[in-house]
Amino acid sequence: MNAEPATVPFAREDLEAFWMPFTANRHFKAKPRFLARSKGMHYWTPEGREILDGTAGLWCVNAGHGREEIADAVARQLRELDYAPPFQMGHPLAFELANELVKIAPRGLDHVFFTNSGSEAVDTALKIALAYHRVKGEAARTRLIGREKGYHGVGFGGISVGGMVNNRKFFGAMLPGVDHLPHTLDLQRNAFSRGLPAHGVEHADALERLVALHDASTIAAVIVEPVQGSVGVIPPPVGYLRRLRELCDRHGILLIFDEVITGFGRLGEPFAAQAFDVVPDMITCAKGLTNGCIPMGAVLVRKGIYDTFMTGPDAAIELFHGYTYSAHPTACAAGLATLDVYRREGLFERAKELAPWWEDVAHSKLKGLPHVVDVRNCGIIAGVEFAPVAGKPGARGFEVFLKCFERDVLVRASGDVIALSPPLIIEKPQVEKLFDTLAGAIRTLA
Ligand SMILES: Cc1ncc(COP(=O)(O)O)c(C=O)c1O
Repeated sequence: MNAEPATVPFAREDLEAFWMPFTANRHFKAKPRFLARSKGMHYWTPEGREILDGTAGLWCVNAGHGREEIADAVARQLRELDYAPPFQMGHPLAFELANELVKIAPRGLDHVFFTNSGSEAVDTALKIALAYHRVKGEAARTRLIGREKGYHGVGFGGISVGGMVNNRKFFGAMLPGVDHLPHTLDLQRNAFSRGLPAHGVEHADALERLVALHDASTIAAVIVEPVQGSVGVIPPPVGYLRRLRELCDRHGILLIFDEVITGFGRLGEPFAAQAFDVVPDMITCAKGLTNGCIPMGAVLVRKGIYDTFMTGPDAAIELFHGYTYSAHPTACAAGLATLDVYRREGLFERAKELAPWWEDVAHSKLKGLPHVVDVRNCGIIAGVEFAPVAGKPGARGFEVFLKCFERDVLVRASGDVIALSPPLIIEKPQVEKLFDTLAGAIRTLA
């Protein structure tokens, strides 16, 4: 099936100035895909095609599109207080939102540092980890440990601890003193696992080897995504995160969960830390914090870390870090209204109830289709991996993404994996449509 030519509201040359992020610019500009409007579970193209959103935008619109409550709160806030400097000054909503976040955070994570994105949240958490050890008198703890296949945004800190080769290889030496744990993807043992894969807890023990190699006294923090998303949906092996927690505790290393995609209900709890019952020392989050409508990120920090900084002279700045738009009033208004929607509509609980059925539908509709080598799921997330076309890694994933869009469904391709992460308001018939459309697109593959 071929989509009709898109009605693009611009001439070809007017598409030139915008250098699109993480996009094949020339391919896109030759045959653009535009989204012009959104509401609930759908986008609309400029020509009026209704597109089912299988990705919550980019893992962020957890409460669905066009929430009036959030729009009203943002509009009111813009009129009331458009901007307030966050350094040495405060405004009420920043404190209110921090308090609300602490209420839903895992026990003990009771301080919040605001940023404007997931990438900034990651770099902030890494800097807090380094500064914490230094303030504590352990200045030699400067090493940061990430993981192969990890995605932690695009700041220099994030790409250094990240493990996706294309995000790293163009950008020089990055941060010094970084090492990586092995990834946990293991198709041979774990393909078509439902929920958490049974095999791979031993990959956490690689941290012991890094400790033996570098010595614990040089290691500041380990950062992992509880469920890896951007690389193509990799749920953690059973027991893996708990083992990492134990090893970090044993060696005085901070554990950071990057919950930029897992935060705010994706796994049926406010955070993955609660879903897996493993509490890290810091959580980075963004995206669902404002339902995607205003940029905002945050780092949730354990009390003991914050307290360590609060020891010098009262009038001294404790952490030389922050952004012009940290705790921006409109973002805070959006965040408060978003948390209110999640709470009032019980969307996290809804996700938890829906998850077993989601799992059944994913596996029953996708397993056994041509080229499909794995189906993975966790919470309201699913990934389907294809055997790559010889010599063209990623081509099959991209083709499926295009074919789904032609069939009015938005999915996300990450290499040869299609990732699904719809808004948590999705109804069962829409789940069926999502997987049926994906299955139909897969069946047409050469
Ligand atoms: C786990 C994780 N960390 C960090 C980021 C970066 O967030 P942002 O794009 O808001 O900078 C992402 C984005 O997808 C992510 O998935």
